[in-house]
Amino acid sequence: MAKRFGILTSGGDCPGLNAVIRGAVLKGQTVYGHEYVGFRDGWYGLVYGDIMELDRTVVRGLSNEGGTILGTSRFGPYSEPDGGPENIKKVLKNLGIDGVIAIGGEGTASASKRLFEDGINIVGVPKTIDNDIDATDYTFGFNTAVEIATEAIDRLRTTGNSHKRCMVLEVMGRHAGWIALHSGIAGGAHAILIPEQPESLDQICAWVTGVKSRGRSPMVVVAEGFKLPDMKEEYSVKGLDGFNRPRLGGIAEVLAPLIEDRTGIETRATVLGHIQRGGVPSAYDRVLATRFGMAVSDLVADKAWGKMVALRGTDVVRITFDEALANPKQVPSDQYQEVRVIFG
Ligand code: F6P
Repeated sequence: MAKRFGILTSGGDCPGLNAVIRGAVLKGQTVYGHEYVGFRDGWYGLVYGDIMELDRTVVRGLSNEGGTILGTSRFGPYSEPDGGPENIKKVLKNLGIDGVIAIGGEGTASASKRLFEDGINIVGVPKTIDNDIDATDYTFGFNTAVEIATEAIDRLRTTGNSHKRCMVLEVMGRHAGWIALHSGIAGGAHAILIPEQPESLDQICAWVTGVKSRGRSPMVVVAEGFKLPDMKEEYSVKGLDGFNRPRLGGIAEVLAPLIEDRTGIETRATVLGHIQRGGVPSAYDRVLATRFGMAVSDLVADKAWGKMVALRGTDVVRITFDEALANPKQVPSDQYQEVRVIFG
């Protein structure tokens, strides 16, 4: 009988998830003769056996579609009352599923590691627009988010120029400044503020004033996790998410009036938000996601349980859940200093 594997997408969505699903199903069917199903809404579908068949006809034309056809959630596999490995083993046995492919970020990788240690056949694919997983050079979704943020900077600059205003754009990234750094460089921002590198309000205002004195309209890009020196924690006023992490967002709205008060320059804030996660993935992300999908079909064919795929240079390699979880990838100081010298 053909081996049968189940795919789930968990945590925040990310452009490229559908391309991973397509890559895995196509290679799994074509090369290995495997069958695939999808678990609906992340771990929820695994815990409650809520599945959909995935074959060639279902995944055709999917690589340019944003979001995830499987749905996602922040429901955990150990959630009471029905979660946990014994229940999941029964669900998999009843559905005739030989292994699970979990596509997700850090929360998903830690849950997968725990399930693997509890005897579930499981492998993973890293995903996040934040690009903050050290074990892979890039995650799919990041490139698309950077493109979207760069376009936002381009658009804000024209309106900022018309009104001679300072424009502050806030981008996502949680505790990492990758989206801010890359989009800020691409969009020619006059200051880029990231969680890894504290900057004082005096310094930010000095950059802004310097730009204005040259007759230009200042463009500041700030990552949602940036803290001013007197802030103990990242700015968070929206409570906790499903994994009990503070929901970030809104630091641009704090910074804009401070800049305006201090410099006298009219300042506007834009919080880009989930637009960075929606819509069509970039070509780069489609390629990376398709390669990850195909590589994860090799993992299950090899019964390489407990492993994930990752990008090293141009190669797709295999890593363990432990490696994936070892270190968050933060922007190194030298990469920030390299561009900081031209701020202002
Ligand atoms: O991790 C991806 C991400 O988009 C972060 O950049 C952001 O802080 C968070 O997820 C937003 O999560 P939610 O979709 O739960 O609001």
